[in-house]
Amino acid sequence: MSEDAGRRSMTRRTRDFTVLLGTTALVLFLLALTGALGLIEALSALGVIASVALAYFVGSAARVPQGVADTWADKPAPEPAEPGPGLFAALPLPALEIGPGQKIMAFNRAADDLFQLANLPFARASAVIRSPVLLAAIDQALERTNAAPISAELETGPDETWRAHVSRIPAGKNVLVLMEDLTPVKRAARARADFLANASHELRTPLTAISGFIETMRGPAKDDTAAWPRFLDIMAGESDRMSRLIADLLSLSRIESSEHVLPRGRENLAEIVSASLAALEPIAAGKGVTLTINAAPTEMPEMTAHRDELVQVVENLVSNAVKYSNAGSTVTLSFGTAPSLAEARITASQQWTLSGRMTLLQALARTSAPEAAVWLRVEDQGPGIEREHLPRLGERFYRADQSRGGKITGTGLGLAIVKHIMAHHRGGLAVETLMGQGTAFGVWMPTGRDA
Ligand SMILES: Nc1ncnc2c1ncn2[C@@H]1O[C@H](COP(=O)(O)OP(=O)(O)OP(=O)(O)O)[C@@H](O)[C@H]1O
Ligand SMILES: [Mg+2]
Repeated sequence: MSEDAGRRSMTRRTRDFTVLLGTTALVLFLLALTGALGLIEALSALGVIASVALAYFVGSAARVPQGVADTWADKPAPEPAEPGPGLFAALPLPALEIGPGQKIMAFNRAADDLFQLANLPFARASAVIRSPVLLAAIDQALERTNAAPISAELETGPDETWRAHVSRIPAGKNVLVLMEDLTPVKRAARARADFLANASHELRTPLTAISGFIETMRGPAKDDTAAWPRFLDIMAGESDRMSRLIADLLSLSRIESSEHVLPRGRENLAEIVSASLAALEPIAAGKGVTLTINAAPTEMPEMTAHRDELVQVVENLVSNAVKYSNAGSTVTLSFGTAPSLAEARITASQQWTLSGRMTLLQALARTSAPEAAVWLRVEDQGPGIEREHLPRLGERFYRADQSRGGKITGTGLGLAIVKHIMAHHRGGLAVETLMGQGTAFGVWMPTGRDA
């Protein structure tokens, strides 16, 4: 491209030179013909004009290569390579400029963080880039003036993927390598695949049991009608499990799809708690567990919330407490208000000394000023949860009980639903537990406008 520009400029200068000299010669010739100018004077004037024109021709010729070469890419490389200037440095993505011979000419801070370039002055790309695919792309872009931009995906760790974009810098010999972090995208795709695998596995298990019993009743146990009621009970249990799972999955996807629609209703937590408990009393009574409410004495303020979703939070937490407790124990619910989210979190989830604690979701503060908040705590006298399980509670399908070899069934979606709903309400979720003594789950959220 610089050769083209040089050639164009040369033609322009030759044309100017010829026109100037031709016109002057013609004027002087006419003057000499009319006798206004002597031949000697005319020839001297022509000589002077020719010298001036030659000086212009030579002088402008000397300036041209400098003008053509005056691009960012062709400036002498900093020795050793150092973080690049201006736009280059402002790029939020790791970026490298690589010159002929794969020499790193410039890079920005993000590239330094990724490749540790500051420790390797005068480095060549092959000294810091391990990927043969990327090195080949750089070579290709360096060799061909009009090579199209090349993209290459690199696995840089067990859970780390980058995409490199390699393109030739216009009007230069160097190439630009821009790195894009694909790790979050890959992680989300893997989580989706895991979710689908888990969901289909969970659905297939009860289905396999049901079809197994159908086969048994059609075949070997065809005439053993006395055994049929037992088979039917098991089949009913499995089909209940399936419909619970489908209801939970639908509920999760409904909450996810409405995640960007903020709750609008003005609700009272005390009413939500009493409505939820009414539905759970029979289950608790059936198991011999007492439910008690230990509410704050003051009247509860209204809060911005989605009523059905909060009912689900209370139901999931209380049903877990009942499910994982033994007969004769008590499940206690307390709730109240706090002047800030931080205080609400402490009241909801940090009441026992020496307990294992974990915040599973942080509330999202909108301003730096304290926001009025409400909190709810569900305490049981169950077996407790081992510390190693705490960080994974709230993950879809994660069941601590399974690894204990527990007989209690569940799909491991209850806490995932609670976590999603609390996130939807800008709230938080935390657990504290004492082995052999009990577990408490706490949730808290801002009361929202007009509070
Ligand atoms: N109060 C509790 N006491 C002891 N363990 C608990 C308690 N609450 C939850 N867990 C543990 O956390 C795990 C996840 O709970 P979650 O409610 O998400 O699933 P689940 O109860 O197994 O199934 P479901 O989807 O039917 O609610 C449970 O499997 C259990 O091991
Ligand atoms: Mg549960």
